[in-house]
This record gives sequence, structure tokens and C-alpha cells, in this order.
Amino acid sequence: MIRLDKYLADMGEGTRQEVKKYIRQGRTAVDGKVIKKPEYKVDETKQRVMLDEREVCYQQFEYYMLNKPAGVVSATEDPREKTVIELIAGHKRKDLFPAGRLDKDTEGLLLVTNDGALAHRLLSPRHHVDKCYYARVRGIVTEEDTKKFLEGVDIGTKGHEEQTAPGRLVILKTDEMTEISEILLTIHEGKYHQVKRMFEAVGKKVEYLRRESMGSLVLDKDLSPGQYRKLTEKELESL
Ligand code: URA
Repeated sequence: MIRLDKYLADMGEGTRQEVKKYIRQGRTAVDGKVIKKPEYKVDETKQRVMLDEREVCYQQFEYYMLNKPAGVVSATEDPREKTVIELIAGHKRKDLFPAGRLDKDTEGLLLVTNDGALAHRLLSPRHHVDKCYYARVRGIVTEEDTKKFLEGVDIGTKGHEEQTAPGRLVILKTDEMTEISEILLTIHEGKYHQVKRMFEAVGKKVEYLRRESMGSLVLDKDLSPGQYRKLTEKELESL
């Protein structure tokens, strides 16, 4: 059971203050009866809520696949930078957050949701969820690097060792002329700047980074950077 004002605000019908006003104005009905009390308790699983004669269905959780563009931060709020949450149009729901972080200059798959339990399962290092990244790297990536990544590399700084778990590196292309390599790297950890630091550890520099997948969730090729869509039932089930 939840309060009527929370029900409407959760569904993005306005801020808590705004929806309280609508309710007091007699614009809402529950099971056909006009309710003017914002604190009125609704059974969100059974009762029918109308606002201005339009039904508002309650959805406890929302899940969006976003192709994060470069230049926005993976946060809910930021005093200076544009956030990934601002990209979800009409996201009036206050409890959405990005499940995990990508660097400001990284693109690709980001799950935006209000389902804390699912986010925890995906992000907790104990659960070993694979994340696959595509990168363009300055330098010629070699089979030697593949071997090193499989053993784990030290990405620590200033004498502090920080060993990564094994990462699976696939070399897609190397160009001797431009000295640029294209690779896929799959890791299950999420250490700060991990992919960039793994390449630094072998003397190379990531110039472009995009997350391609996270567990069973694969970035939809039809989404250009900045675009998003709801997860399908199938994607949600397999997560
Ligand atoms: N590794 C990085 O270095 N940056 C990201 O954004 C994600 C993984």
C-alpha cells in the first residue's frame, strides 16, 4: 500500500507538491471514487487510479538501456556536468540511477533503473558479471598482452600493487602505420578506470572506449550515443 501522492509522483505525474495539488483539486479517482486526500493509501497491485480521467498504472521498477554518449557523467546529480539521468526524457521519477559507472569520455551500455537489488547483483564483485568493452588503443596490442591480461596485471600506482583478476583480450585489428589497435576486453571487475589502467600497465593508451555488454545484456546496435529504450521482457528475465 502506498500513499496516493507518492503513487502519482513515482509514475512521473509531477513533483510530490504538484500531485498533492491535483489530488486536492479533485482530479484523481481511486476505483471510480474521487479522492482528495494525498495521504490516502492505495493498493498499487489491485486498485485503479485515474488522473483527469486517464488511468495511471503503477510500475514498481523501470529499466532502461542507454547508449551513454561521451561528455556526460554516470551520476544522478551533478552541480556542473550533464548526467545520464537527464538523458532519460520525461524521467520525472526521482529514484532512477545508473547501475554502475562509465567514465565521462566512455560510451556504451549503461543500465538505468530504480531496482537496487538487481543493480547490486550486477555490480557486486562477488557475482562476477562479465563486462565486455570495445577499445581503440594507441600502440600495437600483442599476443603477449593477451597472456598478461589472462594472468591479471598490476594497475597500482606509486608502489601500491593492485592486481586485476584475469581479463580476456581479443585483438580485432592492428595497424602498423597508424599504430592503432582495436580490441575487445572482457573483465568482471569494475575497478576505477580499469580498462584504461590495464592498457597503461602494458605501455599503451586507450583512445576510445565503449561498453558492449554486461552479463547477458548487449548494447542495442540501433541505439546511437545518447539514445535509450526500455529493456524488453526477455532481456529482463535473462538478467
Ligand atoms: N574502464 C575504464 O577505464 N573506463 C570505463 O569507463 C569503464 C571501464
